[in-house]
Amino acid sequence: MNNEIDQKMIPTRTLYSGEKIPCMGIGTFGSDKYDAQTVSEAVYGAIRSGYRLIDCAAVYQNEDRIGEVLKKLFSEKAVGRNDLFITSKVWNDMHGDGQVLESCKKSLMDLGLDYIDLYFVHWPFPNYHAPGCSGDSRNPDSMPFSVEEFMGVWRQCEKLVENGLVRYIGMSNMTIPKLEAVLSLCKIQPAALEMELHPSFQQPELFDYAQRHKIQPIGYCPVGSPSRPERDRTAEDVSDMQLPAVAAAARAHQVHPAVICLKWAVQRGQIPIPFSVKEAQYISNLKCTTEDPLTAEEMEAIRMEDKNCRLVKGQVFLWEGAEGWEDLWDMDGVIVTKKR
Ligand SMILES: NC(=O)c1ccc[n+]([C@@H]2O[C@H](COP(=O)([O-])OP(=O)(O)OC[C@H]3O[C@@H](n4cnc5c(N)ncnc54)[C@H](OP(=O)(O)O)[C@@H]3O)[C@@H](O)[C@H]2O)c1
Repeated sequence: MNNEIDQKMIPTRTLYSGEKIPCMGIGTFGSDKYDAQTVSEAVYGAIRSGYRLIDCAAVYQNEDRIGEVLKKLFSEKAVGRNDLFITSKVWNDMHGDGQVLESCKKSLMDLGLDYIDLYFVHWPFPNYHAPGCSGDSRNPDSMPFSVEEFMGVWRQCEKLVENGLVRYIGMSNMTIPKLEAVLSLCKIQPAALEMELHPSFQQPELFDYAQRHKIQPIGYCPVGSPSRPERDRTAEDVSDMQLPAVAAAARAHQVHPAVICLKWAVQRGQIPIPFSVKEAQYISNLKCTTEDPLTAEEMEAIRMEDKNCRLVKGQVFLWEGAEGWEDLWDMDGVIVTKKR
């Protein structure tokens, strides 16, 4: 059976340059649950079924496997390099002088590519933790956001564009105060902002800010990340798929509530990057962008479901002396710079 979704049917979004990119991508973070082999096989199937935007990152530890399936797809002439829009991200432990280039070259080698379409600064500070560590572990070298540190990383990203290794650069896990502090210093503006976005966490102010500045919002955890690692779970978390407006729309459209979260995301204007290794899921996720849209009333009912429920709180990136994960997100509108 040919499962391929017609490219002409898939809506697009327009970057500041005028270039059009798909309205949905596929995520590749296995959440400590799916191994690299499983994720890369899903990427193979996803591209075969019509996905063109693939959200990668060095820290997901599977770019080499994804590179193998890209090579296979190119040799099978299933797609050409220019048909794809591949992202990657520099991890927090590679912010130092020269390290962004080193990290980008490693991702290029692993992915088997000679350029990356969009390269993100994964988090706006150099704080990192051991893979799979518990939520309350702290790295003594962690520090609060600093404009100087961030711009040191951004300048290195700008060089990647100048050297032709990367076409666009982007930021991730930012806040309005941090963007206010750095945007005017950028020689090359961010093309996209990767941020957590789902019905119970809509970040309307940051979303509008990005759109006003011609920065395309890319939404992670778009269906509420039901498979996320234990360290990212708390008792207060809301399940997006059980929200009344999402459940009601799922009944009305006779689809899974995950699909409703994605229809809402695409119709709102962000680019969701749902993760799935299950063929039926990832095909229905992309296909839902091509048919049976939500009504204006359904969109409004889901808008009203915002609970300000952040799932990826980032507590493992806290510095010693920080009061709580809220310090990472500048909730009072000013950058938290405390360090004991
Ligand atoms: N920039 C950043 O800091 C950052 C942070 C987090 C994530 N990301 C990116 O965002 C991507 C997506 O985030 P995420 O993986 O955390 O969350 P997500 O996409 O909201 O959730 C993925 C899970 O949802 C379930 N699912 C997906 N489609 C479904 C469907 N049609 N029906 C039923 N269940 C469905 C699957 O669960 P089962 O496997 O249990 O079936 C899947 O594992 C990541 O893979 C990564 O690329 C970026």
